[in-house]
Formats: sequence, C-alpha cells, structure tokens
Amino acid sequence: MMRDATRPLTLPDLAAMKRRGEKIACLTAYDASFARLIDESGVHIVLVGDSLGMVIQGHTTTLPVSVDDMVYHTACVARGTRQAIVLADLPFMSYATPKDAAHSAARLIQAGAHAVKLEGAGPQVQIVRFLADRNIAVCAHLGLLPQSVHRLGGYKMQARDEETARRLVADAAALVDAGASLLVLECVPAELAREVTEEISIPTIGIGAGAYSDGQVLVLYDMLGLTAKQPRFCKDFLAETGSPSAAIRRYVDEVRTGRFPGLEHQA
Ligand code: KIV
Repeated sequence: MMRDATRPLTLPDLAAMKRRGEKIACLTAYDASFARLIDESGVHIVLVGDSLGMVIQGHTTTLPVSVDDMVYHTACVARGTRQAIVLADLPFMSYATPKDAAHSAARLIQAGAHAVKLEGAGPQVQIVRFLADRNIAVCAHLGLLPQSVHRLGGYKMQARDEETARRLVADAAALVDAGASLLVLECVPAELAREVTEEISIPTIGIGAGAYSDGQVLVLYDMLGLTAKQPRFCKDFLAETGSPSAAIRRYVDEVRTGRFPGLEHQA
C-alpha cells in the first residue's frame, strides 16, 4: 500500500492490506532515532520488542526485561514515529493474570503503543480475550516463544511434526476467536505459516517462517549485522547498502515486493 502521508496507519489498514494481498513490513526499534529512520522508510509496524533485553541490555534471554524497561523504550520509539503502528511487547510474566495484563498493557499504551504483543496460547487465549474485550489491540505470537526458552530447550525451529503443527493451527484459530488483531509466527516451517496465513482472517507476520506470511519482521540489530551471530533466516542489509537508512529502505522494499525472505532464508 502506498501510505497516505497525511494520516497514521491503523490496524484496520493492515487487515485491508491482507485482503488485498499486500505485504506488511515490520522492524524492531528501541529508540527515537532509529524509530524515525524506520518510520520514514515506509515500515508499517515498529515493534518495540523485548529482544531489547538481548540486543540493548546484553542479556542472553529476554526474561530479565521489566515492564518499566518496556515503558521507557516504547515512549522513546513513540516519540520518533509518526505514521507506523507502534507495537510493544508485554515482557515475561507481566500478563500472567488478567489484572496483571490489563495493568501492563495500559502502561504500554499510555507510553505510546497502539497495540501490545504477548506470547503463546492456552491460558493466554483468555488474556487476549480479556484485553481485546476492553478495546486493547493485541498481537499474538506462536511458534518459537523466546519467553519460554528454557522449557523449549533453546532457540530452535518449532512445530516440525504433524501433532505440534496441528496444535499451532488450532491455537491460531483460538487466538483469532479471542480477538487478536495480528499474529507473529516465529521459526515455524514455511508451509505451516502458509496454512495458518490462509486460514485466519487477521494478518500474520513471520520471522524465520518463510515467505508466505502476510508480513515479515526482523530484529533491527540482526538486519544491520550488529549481532554477534546472525540468524540463518536473516540478511545483513547494511553490508549490501552501506548506510542504516538505505539498509532499512532496502528491507522494506524487499518485503513489499516479496524478494525477502528468499529460499536461502528458509529453515
Ligand atoms: O522481541 C522481539 O523482537 C520479537 C520479534 C523477534 C518478533 O518478538
């Protein structure tokens, strides 16, 4: 979609993009300067990811990230963003009960987020319903769930067998029924991401999930080649272009035109 520069994007705009078959570009940001560059590049969603625990704070997982950390970075990103949707992660254990979820989500929305993201299904389906019924836009997240890294045994591909793939399809349907507005699919087989994308009415945003999702997301520092070990599904756009703003523009262009991710970025 050529963005209407006179008004900010909305979640219904993203749903309309899915219906028209237009790709959605999402990138993480943690501060106002990068948020401005990303926003100006035509990105549709700026994700204030709890990946900041790893790429900003230097932890080995996202688990130490607090609601206060997320509020601080969300406010920074919101100040740099004029048009894109600001999506902020609810961090580890900040949405274990409806009351906690409402309190944490309200703080992120008041800091400038337009929507909040949470990981998993099961008991989280009721949390999504609780928030959505109170008019908070929620992005669900299935597949590799970084906040469950210890239970999962590492950062690896998920839903490789038929049983876990069927469970993921059922979880996606339950999250849509609960009122989720978006769904991130992380590190799942491309064909499974395609099936979920075709079956549900809300936009899917893939990472390490092949080319068939409605949109793509990357961690900013990965696609700028700044992280020590770049994931296989990522590409160093800075090495290809020579400047951060050109790298971000190239990413948006390649997502929009379907050139990224290519087969070589597929697990
Ligand atoms: O925290 C994050 O950056 C994320 C993306 C990897 C989807 O959740």
